[in-house]
Amino acid sequence: MLRVDQAGEYGATRIYAGQLAVLRANSPEAKLIARMAAQEQRHLDRFNALVAERRVRPTALQPLWNVAGFALGAATALMSERAALACTDAVETEIDRHYAQQLSDLGSEDAELSADIAEFRADELEHRDAARTAGATDAVGYPVLTAAIRAACRVAIALSKRI
Ligand SMILES: [Fe+2]
Ligand SMILES: [Fe+2]
Repeated sequence: MLRVDQAGEYGATRIYAGQLAVLRANSPEAKLIARMAAQEQRHLDRFNALVAERRVRPTALQPLWNVAGFALGAATALMSERAALACTDAVETEIDRHYAQQLSDLGSEDAELSADIAEFRADELEHRDAARTAGATDAVGYPVLTAAIRAACRVAIALSKRI
């Protein structure tokens, strides 16, 4: 669980870095995304600490998520501000499902980890809703774009659990 969660939060920071590299620095979208990126960094810092503390082997795919995350962020931001927000919408939808599944798998086994996951999940839902409020669903090709990104997230999650 910690391996995939660390990988996911790392990927999130890379997606937002790619978007912020492209978006105009003072646009409302850039400001919103910078705020969300700061929260992803906090999530990542926490999983980095837990991975070290509990001696979890980190994913070997980190170099891939470094490049793929940044590319996904930059590509969606190059399409449009709304496409960048649709990317957040799609990613956070899958992360919400993933964290909900983990919470149910954990049950009462690990209260410390459950508390972190529940807190981060609430942040991710807030990111998804903020992206929608800011116009994500008006992105050109929204259904196709978000379906493709969600499918990619599911593949990334499955790979990061094992590799
Ligand atoms: Fe996060
Ligand atoms: Fe998020």
